[in-house]
Amino acid sequence: MSAFFTLHQGLKREGPGDEESLAWALDLARTPVRARILDAGCGPGADLAILSRLRPGASLVGMDLHAPFIDRIRTEQPHVTAIAGDMLAPDLLARAGRFDLIWSAGAAYGPGVEASLAAWRGALLPEGAVAFSDCLWRNTRSPAHVRDFWAREYPGMQDVPGHLRRIEAAGWRVMGARWLGDAAWQAYYGPLADRIAALRPGADAEMTAVLDEHQAEIDLWRAHGQDYGYYLTVVVPA
Ligand SMILES: C[S@@+](CC[C@H](N)C(=O)[O-])C[C@H]1O[C@@H](n2cnc3c(N)ncnc32)[C@H](O)[C@@H]1O
Repeated sequence: MSAFFTLHQGLKREGPGDEESLAWALDLARTPVRARILDAGCGPGADLAILSRLRPGASLVGMDLHAPFIDRIRTEQPHVTAIAGDMLAPDLLARAGRFDLIWSAGAAYGPGVEASLAAWRGALLPEGAVAFSDCLWRNTRSPAHVRDFWAREYPGMQDVPGHLRRIEAAGWRVMGARWLGDAAWQAYYGPLADRIAALRPGADAEMTAVLDEHQAEIDLWRAHGQDYGYYLTVVVPA
């Protein structure tokens, strides 16, 4: 197993998120009690577990490209329909059915926000909504090394006005949007920092490089988390 996957093995989440913000999105989208919900880019399934608590009557589908995440969800959350594959693939989406809510935490940026929204439009039930989080700039004052880090990690990262403009230009209406709080970042970075500390003793060169890279990302957020953040946006077709 690569050093990257050794570090990430067993983590509950692969990006910022928490129950409070997920509950906010469900309420805003008026997601019914017996909703059909897709978690697109579900990772290891933390949000599916939260959705199971918040909407116990819901029918849940998780989709992710990384098959080991899907195997883990099948074992730990057998009530979830877990599908390995591209969350934008028309045939997979058609087979999965239509949804009251498509939830996507920190995954749309990979294929791109516009491409993701375009693919998901046809997978919504009438009155259905998409709620997704994306990393955005909070201001234009961040130091050069912070800008450089994100230019490498997420070229084209937007600020809020740019984010809202591209959503509206793609034919969607924003029902509401908000920043995730520090607890959502801690839910990811806390366990990740613990894994880094546990793997540090005796780490070989490859592992040390991976640990250093992840620690630098955590340190950057601790020092400059006021300059960027995860923005949760709930949208419906316009
Ligand atoms: C930053 S992680 C977030 C995972 C999860 N939503 C969470 O918050 O823990 C992004 C996830 O999106 C998945 N992903 C990226 N592009 C995808 C695609 N086109 N189809 C399915 N999954 C994708 C990755 O495999 C990864 O698990």
